Amino acid sequence: MKPLARPANPRFSSGPCAKRPGWSLEALNDACLGRSHRSKLGKAKLKEVIDRSRAILGVPADYRIGVVPGSDTGAVELALWSFLGERGVDLLSWESFGEGWITDAVKQLKLGDVRQIRADYGKLPDLSQVDTDRDVVFTWNGTTSGVRVPNGDWIKRDRRGLTIADATSAAFAMELPWDRLDVVTYSWQKVLGGEAAHGMLVLSPRAVARAQSYRPAWPLPKLFRLMSKGKFNEAIFTGETINTPSMLCVEDAIDGLKWAEKIGGLRGLMARAEGNLAALAAWVEKTPWIDFLPEDARTRSCTSVCLKIVDAWFQRLDTDAQRAAVKRLEALLEAEGVAYDIAGHRDAPPGLRIWTGSTVERGDVEALLPWLDWAYGEIRQAAAA
Ligand SMILES: Cc1ncc(COP(=O)(O)O)c(C=O)c1O
Repeated sequence: MKPLARPANPRFSSGPCAKRPGWSLEALNDACLGRSHRSKLGKAKLKEVIDRSRAILGVPADYRIGVVPGSDTGAVELALWSFLGERGVDLLSWESFGEGWITDAVKQLKLGDVRQIRADYGKLPDLSQVDTDRDVVFTWNGTTSGVRVPNGDWIKRDRRGLTIADATSAAFAMELPWDRLDVVTYSWQKVLGGEAAHGMLVLSPRAVARAQSYRPAWPLPKLFRLMSKGKFNEAIFTGETINTPSMLCVEDAIDGLKWAEKIGGLRGLMARAEGNLAALAAWVEKTPWIDFLPEDARTRSCTSVCLKIVDAWFQRLDTDAQRAAVKRLEALLEAEGVAYDIAGHRDAPPGLRIWTGSTVERGDVEALLPWLDWAYGEIRQAAAA
């Protein structure tokens, strides 16, 4: 039997993620459109994004926050190209985004002194192996496996290397220990449900010192340049962007930040995401056909919840048939208007990935759960027929 209630909002995509509750295009009415982003008003809007982000995330006053091109990828690559190569680097990967940063460091930048520390989907590498006197590149929350680092205790406070964290699916939903992080990146399209466009780059004073003292051996495109006329370009961190931003996206980012303030700031945002994870966990606990992909409960993401189908029928299928079965389940739920985009990432083992970041309502997660049981029953029955 089909469940009676549907989620009010079926948007469970891992990016672009659901808009905040109550969002409409009217939220963008005050956008600074058709004006220079370097006008007084334009710069003030960009500065507002920086200031509100700092307050909500608790970024220390001596850390820089800038808006850079190219969404999270742009921010991460700007950091890799600007900072790496000064010393050896530990590159961590446990899913496809971390793997992408390893490709950048090894195949594009061709760094020599590299240690690659990996784990399979569902696992976290042994963090005690990491040497934070070297540079370290890692993903705070691996969006495609749903595995997050539980904390930053493995990072020394008095380290000599820079820690570079891709935190795009963690920022605003998870605590980030700023004293252990030197470079943090994220995009607007994730936990606050903003428009994808620009990346956020947060730099510790030690990262700024590295930018000032170290010249990479490779050419730096203008889009990645933190230095201007031999000096660190402070203007980027006060609302002057390297190139032209979308002021419509900027307005939307401000809207998301204002909403975050209204619901209790970081604490409120985290409580919403953790509540969504708890709702899913209670269902997984009592549902025999499904389990979490992350093995250790302490590493389970509260934003990109990745699930594997453990039922014997599904397990007997080969990988292509498993992927096709998941696609059928996803299509059934999309046709019912119940859930969009919940198949796992194409690089992950076949399974489900449900975005439960802070803009997603717990009531919608709870309403989705009986539908998952229904859809799974449908695909199993169809396969048996
Ligand atoms: C961990 C992680 N890194 C990087 C990206 C790429 O982000 P963007 O498309 O905003 O550049 C994503 C997108 O889902 C991600 O989840």
